[in-house]
Amino acid sequence: MDATYKKTPCVQDVEMKMDSKMCDKPTLMEGGQYIMEGDEEAKSTTIIFSMKEEIGALANALKIFQASNVNLLHIESRPSRREAIFEFMVECDSTTGNLGTAMEQIRGLSSYFQVISRNHHNNKDTVPWFPRKIKDLDRFANQILSYGHELDADHPGFTDPVYRARRKYFADIAYNYRHGQSIPQVEYSAEETATWGAVFRNLTKLYETHACKEHRNVFPLLIENCGYREDNIPQLQDVSDFLKDCTGFTLRPVAGLLSSRDFLAGLAFRVFHSTQYIRHSSKPLYTPEPDICHELLGHAPLFADPAFAQFSQEIGLASLGAPDDYIAKLATCYWFTAEFGLCRQGGEVKAYGAGLLSSFGELEYCLSDKPDVRPFDPIKTCEQSYPITEYQPVYYLAESFEDAKQKLIQFAATIPRPFTVRYNPYTQSVEILDSKPQIQTLVREINCDMQILTDALVKLS
Ligand SMILES: [Fe+2]
Repeated sequence: MDATYKKTPCVQDVEMKMDSKMCDKPTLMEGGQYIMEGDEEAKSTTIIFSMKEEIGALANALKIFQASNVNLLHIESRPSRREAIFEFMVECDSTTGNLGTAMEQIRGLSSYFQVISRNHHNNKDTVPWFPRKIKDLDRFANQILSYGHELDADHPGFTDPVYRARRKYFADIAYNYRHGQSIPQVEYSAEETATWGAVFRNLTKLYETHACKEHRNVFPLLIENCGYREDNIPQLQDVSDFLKDCTGFTLRPVAGLLSSRDFLAGLAFRVFHSTQYIRHSSKPLYTPEPDICHELLGHAPLFADPAFAQFSQEIGLASLGAPDDYIAKLATCYWFTAEFGLCRQGGEVKAYGAGLLSSFGELEYCLSDKPDVRPFDPIKTCEQSYPITEYQPVYYLAESFEDAKQKLIQFAATIPRPFTVRYNPYTQSVEILDSKPQIQTLVREINCDMQILTDALVKLS
């Protein structure tokens, strides 16, 4: 078998399902491998509203919740960015009382009303919940039902109790991780290091001729700064620190597969959810799911490139609050770019997708005359079906990361959502631009940047 992770990509096409029955335990998802979508967040619904009458507004709203027996988990009042009045953000326990009735009454008294919910699938008027601050990524990190030792019967490590225990160890690290903490250092065994060595040795032979120039440029820096060697598995924290210095991207350990929505949301904050375990030693050139070889050899080098980092973040920002069908389209674009993308460089075609750069066989195959190579165009690419258990019959070719980013931004503008988002790197938060005052503030900031640009150009001339 080949060094690829065909069976389960890190952005899987398993539809995110929230159990509307609000059961205590998350339910096993059909098609899920070992990570399932929990419904923890579906137990609460957040409402943001401004009342038409300001005097006693919050007290009146609270009476409505009380009359409907709805428990409130969190209440915030703040100056509205849309109007010159206050708005309230109330997180309600949606498992108690009659939330629907309370919401309808408050909607009737409100000049602005918005519902944000994880459990949005049956309500087209609801904007799907999305993280607003980088710390909010903690909220979906543990939506995991079964741990990494619960492998499929055809997994190479299925009958190996030592491997399964090891997978649980890595899942525990990710489960307990919270934003702001250092990723625990791992002492990899001699067997694990030998597996990494086999992958490293085989792939690095091909990089010079097959990898894009961004990957080739960064790789020596990873060797120098992060311990990329045949006899050493780099530590996630070291790689994360290096990426942060380059582009602001960071790694965050994840116990398994996230839904496409949650995985893409991480990219909006320049956070990449990374596995930390390694594939089973019996098949060093094959893995049925992403592992640390895939993450560190395929993905990490590209996140050190500013243009690719920005391209990745644009996909993430486009996904925030997007309807489910557009999440699927964006995940498909991600698949044909960050996972299996080709790019044109100096009259040649090179690979930049992590699924290619971590697969010895497919890296050779993708640049042969066998596959069908088409120009990257999100409108068409997002509709392309693809196999997940064999080499891709179709690849998409980007003229450059900049070109791909511009096309993606144009595509994102077609996503139906009632607001535009912007990432604020100072506060590591997502700002929602849906009012004139916010846009005026943005214009002032852009004017300041333009002044800096003009000044720099004057000094250069
Ligand atoms: Fe991946």
